[in-house]
Amino acid sequence: MEKVVGGGFLKLMDGKILATLFYEPSTRTRMSFESAFLRLGGKVVSGADMAGASSARKGESLYDTGRVVSEFADLIVVRHPEVGSVAEVAKGARERVASRACVVINAGDGVGDHPTQALLDVYTIWKERGGKLDGLIVGMIGDLKNGRVPHSQCELLKHWDIEFVFVSPKALAMPWNVKDDLTAVGRKFFETEDLGSVVGGLDVICATRIQAERFKSAKEAGKYKGIYVINALMMKKAKKSALLLHPLPRVDEITVDVDRDPRAKYFDQVRNGLCLRMALMAEVMGK
Ligand code: CP
Repeated sequence: MEKVVGGGFLKLMDGKILATLFYEPSTRTRMSFESAFLRLGGKVVSGADMAGASSARKGESLYDTGRVVSEFADLIVVRHPEVGSVAEVAKGARERVASRACVVINAGDGVGDHPTQALLDVYTIWKERGGKLDGLIVGMIGDLKNGRVPHSQCELLKHWDIEFVFVSPKALAMPWNVKDDLTAVGRKFFETEDLGSVVGGLDVICATRIQAERFKSAKEAGKYKGIYVINALMMKKAKKSALLLHPLPRVDEITVDVDRDPRAKYFDQVRNGLCLRMALMAEVMGK
């Protein structure tokens, strides 16, 4: 897939249609899935504003939406603000009367999960570290309560012998169900509010933004604005071999003077995500 992204197209999805149903804003994830499917030779029906411009406005259920769109598409990618919403679309899509059920992929369900972002993050670390993840100390920084990306990262990274460092304000700490899952498989984690005191020990620094859209008010979210800023000065404290990841969009968590630092991998992640999603869709479609 890396080679194809370098300038070509495949015919693996010839005759297949992808539908993207996005009930929340997105730049990367929707366009990445759509570009990936086009690179695989398929066609795309794009629902970029399902909240504002679909029959959800008239009260159509997620189950019915899944059932209906499965008649149009062979694969559906969904983003929605509620936990469990994508599973509801999948329930409807599974009812399709056809030789093969429609495949549904989660592109982010509220504060729940963002599995393909975590997959591309792990792929990025794996590539940068020559296939070795065991022994790494991985830091996750920001709004760990509401951030679906750190939740999914833990879900994947727990399969390696990795230590976790969670940096957040106490009110935005990593939820206990995620921490319990790590403990259950013998993984250690350490929690702190102070990034400066731990950044020098991290092999991977996963920054995330404050998820302002999940707060009761802009004023409430504003309390945490600028709480963790990774700038060139902060990167001086980090290991020479560290990797700096961010799912993007960034707000104020990483200053632009860090972009040229060879340890900054957030734009590489975007390209890796395209290849990863091509591979994933080929896999789930049995190709
Ligand atoms: N990383 C990510 O999910 O970005 P978008 O919200 O732009 O899709």
